[in-house]
Amino acid sequence: MKILVVGGGGREHALVWKISQSPRVKEIFCAPGNGGITELATCIPIEPTGLQQLADFAEKEKVDLTVVGPELPLTLGIVDEFSRRELKVFGATRRAAEIEGSKVFAKEFMKKYSIPSSQFSVCTTAEEAFKLIKHRWFSYPVVFKADGLAAGKGSIIVNDEAQAHEVTRQIMVERRFGAAGDRMVVEEFLRGEEVSFKVITDGERVLPLAASQDHKAVYDDDKGPNTGGMGAFSPSPMVDKALHRQIMEEVIYPTVRGMVKEGREYRGVLYAGLMITDEGPKVLEFNARFGDPETQVVLPCMEGDLVPLLEAVAEGSLEGMEISWRDAVAICVVLASGGYPGSYEKGKVISGLWEASGLDDVLLFHAGTERQDARFLTAGGRVLGVTAVAPTFPEAIKQAYDACQMIGFQGMHYRRDIGRKALRWLEK
Ligand code: AMP
Ligand code: GLY
Repeated sequence: MKILVVGGGGREHALVWKISQSPRVKEIFCAPGNGGITELATCIPIEPTGLQQLADFAEKEKVDLTVVGPELPLTLGIVDEFSRRELKVFGATRRAAEIEGSKVFAKEFMKKYSIPSSQFSVCTTAEEAFKLIKHRWFSYPVVFKADGLAAGKGSIIVNDEAQAHEVTRQIMVERRFGAAGDRMVVEEFLRGEEVSFKVITDGERVLPLAASQDHKAVYDDDKGPNTGGMGAFSPSPMVDKALHRQIMEEVIYPTVRGMVKEGREYRGVLYAGLMITDEGPKVLEFNARFGDPETQVVLPCMEGDLVPLLEAVAEGSLEGMEISWRDAVAICVVLASGGYPGSYEKGKVISGLWEASGLDDVLLFHAGTERQDARFLTAGGRVLGVTAVAPTFPEAIKQAYDACQMIGFQGMHYRRDIGRKALRWLEK
C-alpha cells in the first residue's frame, strides 16, 4: 500500500512511525512532514490546507489511503473532497469536524444529547456579552471561548469583571482570533484533573484507545500560559474500569449516536478532552483528530498493525476489528524553543539526537525540526517529543529524562514533572 499522512508535527511523526511498521505498507508520503519524518517517509511540500493539491497528489501517485493529522484540513473539508474523488481517507467530514471547529455547535450538541459538560451561555455580540457580565449567572473564575479554531489559544480563564470586559473586547471587538470572535461561549469553570479520551469509530462501532493525560501549561505544576501540550503519559491510572465504562456510556456513545441523528455521522478519531470532577467526567472540548503529544504515547503502547484499523474506518466498517495493548506505559517530554508559547527563534542546531536515539526504548518524535544535510535545526515552538516506553512509570520517566539531558539547542526548555501525576495516582 501507499499511504499519505497529512501534517508535519510530532503527532504525524508518531503516525508515520507506527504506519511504517505495517507489513502492508510499501511507501509513505507526508505533507509537509518535518526533519525527522524524512527518515521514514517522502516529504512533499504541500501544506495541509492545500486540499486540491493533496487530492491531485493522491490521484497521481495512486495513494491507497490518506490519514489526516491536524484539525484545519478536516474543518475545511479534506475528507469531503477526497471522498468526492473516490480517494480513501481516514478522518471526519467537514460537518462532523464541526464538533471541534465550533465551540457553540459542540456545547449546544452536548446540551441536546445530555452529555455531561459545563453550564454555558452563547454571546453573538459584544453588547450581549457585556450584558451577561452585568447580570451574570456565573461566579468567577469563568471561561471565555472564541467560537472557532484558534490554535489552542481561544479559551481564556477570566478571574474578575474587569478581565471579563477586557477579554470580551479582545475576542469580539478587536477580533484577536479573527472570525472565531463572531460568537463567544461563556462557560462555568470546572475543577478536577484532565484526561484525553480517544476512540476510533466508523460512525457506529467504537474502539477506545488507551486514555492519556496531557500537560498543557508551559511550566511545572501546571503554571504559566497554555501551550499545545508540553508532555503526556499513557495509560492514565486515573481511568480505572468503572470510569472507563462511565465515559463510554455517558460521553462517547451518546456523542457517536447523536452525530448520526444530526446527519453528521462521525468517522475517524473522536477525542474527548475531559475534566474528571467530583461529579464525574465532564467534557471540556471535543477534537476531531489524534492528540498532540498524546499520540506520541498512545501509539507506542498499541500492539499490532494500525493500518487495517484506519483502512476499515475509511471503508466504513470496523466490524470484527479490535485493538490490543502492550503491558507497558509511555511518557513523552516535549523539548520547546526558548520563548514558546510566545514568540521564538528558529534555526538552532540540535545536538545529541544520535546519542539519545541509541537509548533502549526511547523514541524521538520530531515536532518542529528541519534537516540540513546531516544536521537537524529547530523549526517550530515544540521541537521534539522524547518518548520512553517501559514496564512502569518510574522507569519510563527516568529513561525519558535521561534522553532529554543528552539533547540540547540554544534556548531549549522543558517541563521536569511530566508523569508525576501518574505517580501520584499510583501511590493512592
Ligand atoms: P479548549 O480551548 O476548549 O480546548 O480548552 C483548552 C484548555 O483550557 C483545556 O484543556 C483546559 O485546561 C482549559 N479549560 C477549557 N474549558 C475549561 C473549563 N470549563 N473549566 C476549566 N478549564 C477549562
Ligand atoms: N494535546 C492537546 C491537543 O491535541 O489538542
